[in-house]
Amino acid sequence: ARKFFVGGNWKANGTLKSNEELVKVLNAAEVPGTDVVEVVVAPAAVHIPAVQAALRKDFSVAAQNCWTGKGGAFTGELPAEMLKDLGLPWVILGHSERRHILKESDEMIADKVAYALSQGLGVIYCIGEKLEEREAGNTMAVNARQMKALADKISDWSKIVVAYEPVWAIGTGKVATPEQAQEVHDEVRKWLAANVSPKAAAATRIIYGGSVTAANCGDLATRPDIDGFLVGGASLKPEFVDIIKAAA
Ligand code: 13P
Repeated sequence: ARKFFVGGNWKANGTLKSNEELVKVLNAAEVPGTDVVEVVVAPAAVHIPAVQAALRKDFSVAAQNCWTGKGGAFTGELPAEMLKDLGLPWVILGHSERRHILKESDEMIADKVAYALSQGLGVIYCIGEKLEEREAGNTMAVNARQMKALADKISDWSKIVVAYEPVWAIGTGKVATPEQAQEVHDEVRKWLAANVSPKAAAATRIIYGGSVTAANCGDLATRPDIDGFLVGGASLKPEFVDIIKAAA
């Protein structure tokens, strides 16, 4: 009952020209229908309107970040209501690069999610442990802490997609094994059942991110609690189409 979800996080990459070429490839691709898979791409903020105008209408566009609250005197920030005004259905929040490079706290991210939901956006909420946390046996403690920070600030999970992205797997070529990913997805779903509701646990899509490629996505996609992917590097290539096809 959970519709497969494939997101392409383009991060701080691309030019108007390279995006145009990538969109051309996506627009020409034969992929399963919207009854089978939801496809979302997240270009850099400045590229959103151009991608939105050119992209096929059965795929949607997301932002990679937004501000914690209403717009105003916040130089350089991107308030959720502006994303809504553009007609964007989704925003990615809590990405590990924002947690660890930009030093966003659990609390700041939860504020962003709560405000984005209040504006009617859906949120791809990223969680995940660092290598040293996994090696210390703290994988689920870290993921549970990041889940709780959000559960403390929101009650409606119907527009949340959780993206489990172990930090050690992002951009490293070291994909989590299907067993490693399934284990955490299962624990996150159990966490939702115990701390939010069995209904939210059953309905919430939990997608995997971190070095997903056309070559490794097939096995991951067969696991019962892996409901899709959030793809970085491979989403900038025609290979992304093959990852979308893993939904079928
Ligand atoms: P890579 O697919 O490049 O490892 O990036 C994953 C990611 O961070 C998606 O948000």
